[in-house]
Amino acid sequence: MMYTTLLTSLEQGILTITINRPDKLNALNTQVFTDIQAAVNEVSGNPIIKAAIITGAGKAFVAGADITEFNELTTDQAMALAARGQNIFAAIENCSKPIVAAVNGFALGGGCELAMACHFRIASELAKFGQPEVNLGLIPGYGGTQRLAQIIGKGKALELQMTGAIITADAALQLGLVNYVVPAAELLAYTTTLLQTIITKAPIAIAQIIQATNAYNTATGYQQEVQGFGVAFNTADRVEGTTAFLQKRTPTFTGN
Ligand code: COA
Repeated sequence: MMYTTLLTSLEQGILTITINRPDKLNALNTQVFTDIQAAVNEVSGNPIIKAAIITGAGKAFVAGADITEFNELTTDQAMALAARGQNIFAAIENCSKPIVAAVNGFALGGGCELAMACHFRIASELAKFGQPEVNLGLIPGYGGTQRLAQIIGKGKALELQMTGAIITADAALQLGLVNYVVPAAELLAYTTTLLQTIITKAPIAIAQIIQATNAYNTATGYQQEVQGFGVAFNTADRVEGTTAFLQKRTPTFTGN
């Protein structure tokens, strides 16, 4: 598909989605949100796509919500904007196929929230993270207050949001905000290689891992895990996986 603000390329089942407003540091305006929503639908709905990478063009991953759109909004419109952003990022988090953020540069505000909505994050050594909304008299609005605490713990999440500090990729690694920090030139290749391994696994099991893990901090998390275990257990891929183990061979998964 063609998008106004995104570049996409599909290689061996992995769709790389590049947010492409480099002159505005890929700030999330209405059109970028519309395009991200459509791209997530494409990832979910196109059987050729097995996984996706979200990254940014130029020196930023995403430098936040587009602040130029803010001053014309009423409070109700601002709340609707936050709700829309939350819904679109929730669609990323709940996508049944792996979506990984390859954070190439600034991931600030809504950019850090976008990265956190992805299933996990890999950072270039040049990446920078932060929730600087407090400097604008604002708070994160696209799920950041919730996901940051889930990923790095409440105390560190409160500190980052209250100070508005911008931290390095290595600091983000120490906090568990990113899984790996790699040289800038290797970011996409590293992320692709990791996803190539993941997409050899049983897709229904991957989908159930995502769904159950997303429910981990809710009252239904354990129940969700039992349900997901049942769904995965009841697949041909599970039979193939357990049989292959017993036969001491590599399984071949079909997604059924
Ligand atoms: N919304 C709208 N435009 C933004 C933006 C945002 N969140 N972040 C950057 N831009 C624009 C700048 O206004 C500038 O546009 P211009 O060339 O038309 O003036 C362009 O992107 C380049 O940014 P600039 O500030 O010149 O780059 P820099 O390297 O000096 O600084 C940052 C980089 C990330 C430190 C700085 O852009 C920044 O603080 N951005 C806002 C971050 C933020 O508060 N995000 C949370 C929003 S809720």
